[in-house]
Amino acid sequence: MDLEKSHYTIAVIPGDGIGPEIIQVATAILQQVASDGDLTFQLTTVEAGAETYQKYGDALPPESLARCKQADAIFKGPTGLPDVRLPDGTEAGVLGGRFRNGLDLYVNLRPIKLYPNVPTALANRQPGDIDWVMIRENTEGLYASRGNGVVATSGQAATDTLMITRAGSERIIRYAFEEARRRNGQKRVTCVDKSNVLRSFAFFRQIFKEIAQDYPDIETDFLYVDAAAQAIVLEPQRFDVMVTENMFGDILSDLGGATIGGVGVCAGANIGANYAYFEPIHGSAPGLAGKGVANPLSAILAVRLMLEYLNQPTVAARLERAIEQAFINKDIILRPDGSAEEGTEAIAEAISRQLAKTH
Ligand code: IPM
Ligand code: MG
Repeated sequence: MDLEKSHYTIAVIPGDGIGPEIIQVATAILQQVASDGDLTFQLTTVEAGAETYQKYGDALPPESLARCKQADAIFKGPTGLPDVRLPDGTEAGVLGGRFRNGLDLYVNLRPIKLYPNVPTALANRQPGDIDWVMIRENTEGLYASRGNGVVATSGQAATDTLMITRAGSERIIRYAFEEARRRNGQKRVTCVDKSNVLRSFAFFRQIFKEIAQDYPDIETDFLYVDAAAQAIVLEPQRFDVMVTENMFGDILSDLGGATIGGVGVCAGANIGANYAYFEPIHGSAPGLAGKGVANPLSAILAVRLMLEYLNQPTVAARLERAIEQAFINKDIILRPDGSAEEGTEAIAEAISRQLAKTH
């Protein structure tokens, strides 16, 4: 879908807990970088999440979903509150399944990039050593079983089924190769699976090899998931683009996140053929809400991903440089747990100042 134009509409879901405060400063950054690039963004606030569930009995009322579908993109804060639960005991405010499966957002893209002066859990790693992107299949795999697992009549066993389809694999693998072409990286795609043990993954790997034929300019690489976990820690420079199944991607993206300073610097894009949403990947941290201390970086990084999706690479790159410069200047000091020494406003201001300088 070619989205390049000068006026965009964005559905903004402030979400729960710290959501509204970080989304607020991130949208201000979006407006700043947009106006410098002669773009206009019309933002529509959309109710969704745990508080919305408490109000209407539905975490994503039809009206909210309709607004999301009308917009060019969805910018989503963290949703869900630990005490707001469905009768089956699961959290009522979590929207992943509603959006990912409901809108067929088959790509879950998560950059794993180490910024300057960020404390990494890995010893002796420099920015540049860790710079890769996770392409997680977002609609099938083991999580295709979401809500459909089977408990045996004996009550003594339960199963979930891992589903790998040809169509689902082809499209995510193709996306990964295209991403490797787009990125200014090593032009390598690593296929992560468990094809030594499971037939479904042998099928996935076979499809990967077929698709790879169409991309002779991109190098291929193969790892079993256990070896991939080790490599993320021991040889992160090996990775450029990784493509894998839903649950493996869920787990390995958090492991990757831990190598670059944790969830405080991790943003995710959920992309399909017709819709997409962008989010910080951390939760709503209700204990921190309203104090002005939440780190808004992941939300600001999600803005960068959204600008790329909207086919505004120049504007996206400007924002990326401003974020990078704020780290270089030590305007943003992250603690090893991903929280920040500065408050929400101070971090946003540091990035805003850099943007103003480069205008
Ligand atoms: C993620 C999250 C979600 C997932 C949860 C909250 C349902 O862990 O986005 O990685 O499992 O996909
Ligand atoms: Mg996860």
